[in-house]
Amino acid sequence: MDLSKYTSFKELPKSYWIASTENTNYPAFSQDMKIDVVIIGGGLVGIQCAYFLKKEGLKVALLEANRIGSGTTGYTTAKITSQHGLIYSKIKNQMGEELARQYAEANESAIGEYKKIAEENNIECDYIPQSSFIYTQDDSYIQKISDEVDAASRLGIKASYVEEIPFPIPIKAAIRFDNQAQFHPLKYITALAKTIPDNDCHIFEESRAITIDEEGSNYIITTEQGSKIIAKIVIIASHYPFYNKPGMYYARIYQERSYVLAVKAKEKYPGGMYINAEDPTRSLRHQPHLNGELILVGGEHHKTGQGKDTTKHYEALVDFAKDIFTIDDILFRWSTQDCMTVDGIPYVGYFNPNTPNLYIATGFQKWGMTNSMVSAMLIRDLIVKGKSPWQDVYNPSRKTILASAKDFVVQNLNVAEQLIDGKLSPVPDDVDVKAGEGRIVMVDGKRAGAYKNEKGNLHLVNTTCTHMGCELNWNSAERTWDCPCHGSRFTYDGKIIEGPATKHLSFSNDVNTFKKLLQEDF
Ligand code: FES
Repeated sequence: MDLSKYTSFKELPKSYWIASTENTNYPAFSQDMKIDVVIIGGGLVGIQCAYFLKKEGLKVALLEANRIGSGTTGYTTAKITSQHGLIYSKIKNQMGEELARQYAEANESAIGEYKKIAEENNIECDYIPQSSFIYTQDDSYIQKISDEVDAASRLGIKASYVEEIPFPIPIKAAIRFDNQAQFHPLKYITALAKTIPDNDCHIFEESRAITIDEEGSNYIITTEQGSKIIAKIVIIASHYPFYNKPGMYYARIYQERSYVLAVKAKEKYPGGMYINAEDPTRSLRHQPHLNGELILVGGEHHKTGQGKDTTKHYEALVDFAKDIFTIDDILFRWSTQDCMTVDGIPYVGYFNPNTPNLYIATGFQKWGMTNSMVSAMLIRDLIVKGKSPWQDVYNPSRKTILASAKDFVVQNLNVAEQLIDGKLSPVPDDVDVKAGEGRIVMVDGKRAGAYKNEKGNLHLVNTTCTHMGCELNWNSAERTWDCPCHGSRFTYDGKIIEGPATKHLSFSNDVNTFKKLLQEDF
């Protein structure tokens, strides 16, 4: 497929949300301090937690490893919806109707809370009310669609069964939820972040937290630069948690990537937000852009570091888009990853049952808009009131996780396989990669990653993941080194893009210098 005729395929992937928002410039954390609450992570969970807790009179410091919204928040499709696949039948069957009700109420409340916060703070964030649809093209899903309409309706959601959607896609059935919405997540988060610094509340950027230690009834958080914050309460809102003391999160979360195109089409978008029920995933929404609109075409999925030739995932979305629209151009494309839990429900609440002042929010299953708002409201209520009406369904230590023991075993077997395969697969014994190519090579008998840019400059990294030692794989579409075990990602010059890793890779442009670095690493 000749993709080079499309604007975005001439350069590396770039998120529309990031490209259309001003850069933030909060200071780095440099002076030790003591504070009520430390929030680790400046995405939607972290900023919204900071917003709510500041309103409750608490002194808050937020540490972001890069820039506000530069992680998963900056690469989403940004649908504010309580329609998370066929979730309500699933929770009802797996955990019972009461917990399904908690999930429904939490996510419906989150939709309204976005509108309220945007209005109260005069935030211009392209918020547009929409209906949301799940459709199927597969006869075997018709009954499931019908069951989901019943389950959602019983829980108070305005859901209906429909047989048509306004696209030339021959569907068998669909669910429609009303009173949903879409927005521009970075316009929202960067405006909300501005309300936080003052009255002893702080945002720090380029301040990666690397350790959390207990000292009496306090926590000490140390950043990469060596500065420390002492706090009574810590909220880990860093997507995949890097802290792993009793919680075993690395054994019960995995990361999955997905892809988005921002298409300029000849046809006008008919409104609504769409996703299909079956595989491969396909998702649609639109976004106002200059004097026209972009159509966001999303989908595909694979475990991070296991996507083979990742460009093929963008190609599959182009094929899908071509069947529905006349494509003028593809102005942006990007990919992202989200944390998946073994039972399909996020982990939000106490990090473990014995840590009343340590909180976690993760595992949003690619439904991070409402789940991030739910997390912020839930954690605020646990801190301020000691309880939340939704804490049971989101409880990270819920007993029902045991019912997912099969998924737990499958995911951990996959990690073990990746660990062994990565160490044993044969590797060519040269660093003579072509311009534009990245691959594993042998340097002094040790595995290494080599990437040569278009100008012919060589970039060598140690491909042993700094988290738990799995071997990284090359991601050709994004030009990154991705870990197939827990999903850490690194730039071609070894910098962390996504955790749980907290340490960069050894890197050099020069083979002899790199050999010395490798000797120090092993
Ligand atoms: Fe865990 Fe790489 S992310 S070993």
